[in-house]
Amino acid sequence: MKRRLLSGMTVCACLLTGTVSGQGYSADNTEDMQSLKEAYADRFMIGTAGDFPRRYSEAELENVTFHYDIVTPENCMKPQPTHSSEDNYNFDTPDDLVDWCQDNDIKVWGHTLLWHAQTGRWFFQDDGEPADRKLALRRLKRHISKVVKHYKGDVIGWDVANESIADEGDWTTENLRDYSWYKTVGPDVLTLAFKWAHEADPDAVLYYNDYNIEQGASQNTGKHASSMILLKRLLDEGAPVHGVGIQGHWHLDTNLADVEQAIENYASLGLKVSITELDVTATGDNSGSFDVQTGEGTIPEENYVKQAEVYRKLFEIFNRHADVIERVTFWGVSDTRSWRGRQNALLFTGDLEPKPAFQAVLQAAASE
Ligand code: G3I
Repeated sequence: MKRRLLSGMTVCACLLTGTVSGQGYSADNTEDMQSLKEAYADRFMIGTAGDFPRRYSEAELENVTFHYDIVTPENCMKPQPTHSSEDNYNFDTPDDLVDWCQDNDIKVWGHTLLWHAQTGRWFFQDDGEPADRKLALRRLKRHISKVVKHYKGDVIGWDVANESIADEGDWTTENLRDYSWYKTVGPDVLTLAFKWAHEADPDAVLYYNDYNIEQGASQNTGKHASSMILLKRLLDEGAPVHGVGIQGHWHLDTNLADVEQAIENYASLGLKVSITELDVTATGDNSGSFDVQTGEGTIPEENYVKQAEVYRKLFEIFNRHADVIERVTFWGVSDTRSWRGRQNALLFTGDLEPKPAFQAVLQAAASE
């Protein structure tokens, strides 16, 4: 199916070499646009992230319903907003998101249950003292059971554990962060979290989700090596882990061989793979949202051409592994709806004009 999208949005091959004016793209004619989800319908789901529909414009919401099969709540299903204190749950915003997605025939992916960030400090405190393992575990079990049961049948799966592996350390171990859940409870917190999520919704697909875990895959080192050690241990312990989320916060010089090898390595464990938070910065690296406040202004035009090339090569890799890839989710709708504000990492400008990267992703779908 082809459909005419928003007036003023143009997709044409010329965008690959086309003009970039300031932060936007010149668009002076309108052509039929193929949707991303339609282009990849035979391969894997295409997703986006955001806390829809609140505070999104009609045009942004139309972009979402047109292009995407599945939505990940960017923030509103995380522990802090859903469970801000021991007896205080709030599902208003994520309930609205689920309703809106269901009204628009879009699936929802749950994000996230066990994380060191966006998690209330109260989980780890007991009358001003650090909570002990037993208390922290009781709270975590209650949290997971409550939230997963609340969305049973409404979400197809969960990022059960998010970003457990440290950024520096010993890559011959699983190298878990030495604080938060991993300090208060210990490494078995991961196995327990997966088991509790499975008990609460036996039909949900359960993922371990992390960033930079492809790094080192070609050399069997780095964060990738630690992720393999961790996943093998979880599977050995009987944790119901079904898949791995490679977040995919990448940049113009991301090591693509590592990306492909990581997908193959996770598949060799019998796990499914998704790219869960894809963005490719048009400037700067992938070390975080450091540039949001201090961006240098105009990004050279050639960066957008290179960005499109990186996206094209990434999707060619994903296509080669479509048998194990369940979903590719972009982390935001547009460059101004991105945690990497001034690095212009997504497929659409803030005005929802498709960038060269958008056309490159469509072209990759058409290739074998
Ligand atoms: O909700 C408050 C609002 O009340 C307040 O006025 C405002 C002032 O700064 O802050 C708002 O909270 C912000 C929240 O996003 C919602 O917009 C937080 O400051 C901000 O830190 C938070 O950032 C989110 C970040 O996770 C937190 O770690 C980003 O939007 C979100 O894109 C990002 O997503 C993460 C994934 O969950 C996990 N992987 C990495 C990815 C990127 O960091």
